[in-house]
Amino acid sequence: MKVKRVIYPGTFDPITNGHLDILNRALTLFQNVEVLVCENPSKSPLFTLEERKRLIEESMKGIARIKVSVYRGLLVDAVKKGEKAIFIRGLRVVSDFEYELQMAIMNRKLNPDIETVFLMPNEQYIFLSSSMVRDIVKFKGDISRFIPRVVRLALKEKFKDGVKP
Ligand code: COA
Repeated sequence: MKVKRVIYPGTFDPITNGHLDILNRALTLFQNVEVLVCENPSKSPLFTLEERKRLIEESMKGIARIKVSVYRGLLVDAVKKGEKAIFIRGLRVVSDFEYELQMAIMNRKLNPDIETVFLMPNEQYIFLSSSMVRDIVKFKGDISRFIPRVVRLALKEKFKDGVKP
């Protein structure tokens, strides 16, 4: 059975150049990639799902082979039963591995038609994360080379009145 959908799921709060690096690598392997902006129940995001979606679309402007959607629910339920799909996940450091392995195996148990493909970002992004970006911007640090311009502007706007307690 041929793979029908290639999905890059994540919280993307906000998207960083590290995520874009993974997405661009996925686009060298697959014809089309769907970015799925998910609601992770254990996180309290800074940006709404719609804001996160818009930031990804603007960061990837002009690339027709990607589609960005928002998703609320269990990740495996985003894929119809019997529909062969691939989840793309980024692997940065060894500490990612345990969580990612657990999730990949669980997703495969829940739906055997889903395979997870891991891609490694460029080494300059391996210690990058969205929460690190949020924290650095919150305290006025310079992280501009790790995020797209649209994200930098959106973060500036979020923190324009200073840091809320
Ligand atoms: N560059 C920069 N940062 C990266 C990265 C990269 N290439 N790859 C991962 N990260 C960071 C993210 O920025 C994020 O950082 P943060 O925690 O500081 O915000 C962290 O790694 C993990 O990110 P993410 O890929 O967004 O995963 P997640 O754990 O937040 O989300 C989902 C996992 C997609 C499954 C989530 O949507 C979810 O929990 N869904 C619902 C429940 C579900 O289906 N769970 C699975 C059960 S098996």
